[in-house]
Amino acid sequence: MSEMETAGSLKAALPGDEIVARINELGNISEAPGQLTRIFLSKQHRAAADLILRWMREAGMRAHLDAIGNVCGRYEGDRPGLPCLMLGSHYDTVRDAGKWDGPLGIVTAISCVAELNRRGRRLPFAIEVIAFADEEGVRFASTLLGSRTVAGTFDESVLNSRDRAGVSMREALEVFGLDPGHIGAAARARRELLAYVELHIEQGPMLEAEQLPVGVVTAISGATRLAVTLTGMAGHAGTVPMALRRDALAAAAECITAIEASCRADTGLVGTVGAIDAKPGATNVIPGRVFFTIDMRAASDAHRSKAVAEVVRRIEAIAKRRELALQVEVTHENRSVPCAPWLKSQVAAAIAAEGYRVFELPSGAGHDGMAMVDIADIAMLFVRCRAGISHHPDEHVEVADAAAGARVLLRLIENFRRS
Ligand code: HGY
Ligand code: MN
Ligand code: MN
Repeated sequence: MSEMETAGSLKAALPGDEIVARINELGNISEAPGQLTRIFLSKQHRAAADLILRWMREAGMRAHLDAIGNVCGRYEGDRPGLPCLMLGSHYDTVRDAGKWDGPLGIVTAISCVAELNRRGRRLPFAIEVIAFADEEGVRFASTLLGSRTVAGTFDESVLNSRDRAGVSMREALEVFGLDPGHIGAAARARRELLAYVELHIEQGPMLEAEQLPVGVVTAISGATRLAVTLTGMAGHAGTVPMALRRDALAAAAECITAIEASCRADTGLVGTVGAIDAKPGATNVIPGRVFFTIDMRAASDAHRSKAVAEVVRRIEAIAKRRELALQVEVTHENRSVPCAPWLKSQVAAAIAAEGYRVFELPSGAGHDGMAMVDIADIAMLFVRCRAGISHHPDEHVEVADAAAGARVLLRLIENFRRS
């Protein structure tokens, strides 16, 4: 065993209780009573950032907020200015979210640094922990805003995108106390990073089925998000005969079942219509205009692109037959990203060193590594979550699994070898 303390004392040092307590503390910072919703640049998002800043500083890191709202902590190596092993995850959530998706990676990484700091341990590289400001993309259609900023791939045009209330991202950043003009300067150079490693809940059922607390991620599936608008003709629900209607909501319903049928028929493909909005939205008015979203994913980019084209073709045929106008916009496109073999083997070695069977699995969920891969090789360590439930308030991680993830991550850090 390396210089790190014995497994027993490590179990004591990283028991998981502190991680769970912090997950609960963050989980209480929500903009909606009785549920967890923490959207990019909201007041609660700011409160969460301030809490994470405090935890980073207490763990011995220098910490600051960058121009997009990422919380950036740095723990120097055995001499100042060394390139870093970057860890992290996101602190924004979906609506009515679980409290582990994102925060577990942040809180666990901070706990690992705190343990090194407690022991006065300095490594031949720096460690940076980044709490990314927006991975989910709930408030503005585009996602991975925090990690794209760090990777230098942030597209400034999204600053003009507007949320449901008509507030632009630029205005929201300024209200949050940030200067959008400094986003470019927040980008990091490849030479500053040795690798990016993210601990995250699996958000699926595989580890539970394998009866394992942790697993090695092989690749992150790519995703395409589309915004669809169908425009027909609003009218009186009582007087317009069915044959004369151009009902946008009935058309959307036919589209949604067509999307589901396409994806069900194609193994390895998943498709979701997650949001829909019908106007004018009155019981006695035929909907004249409907907006809905589509999220499609597959392990390979070619498979996903082919499936997206097929779904768009089916929607176009439905709109044409029903004489409705159709607008389809791709709002987000992320390629599938492989984890680097040299890093995967170090994650596997840390898992084995903690006495667990090494199990590899793909990620159907998207993660910040999809952006970070532009400036560093990436790896992910998955932690089991109950019944694979995620993006739901029942999302849950057992304290023993949180502790197992922390011990594996700390072992990975202390045994980390550059490529
Ligand atoms: O949508 C996803 O896969 C991720 O949770 N943002
Ligand atoms: Mn998520
Ligand atoms: Mn996530």
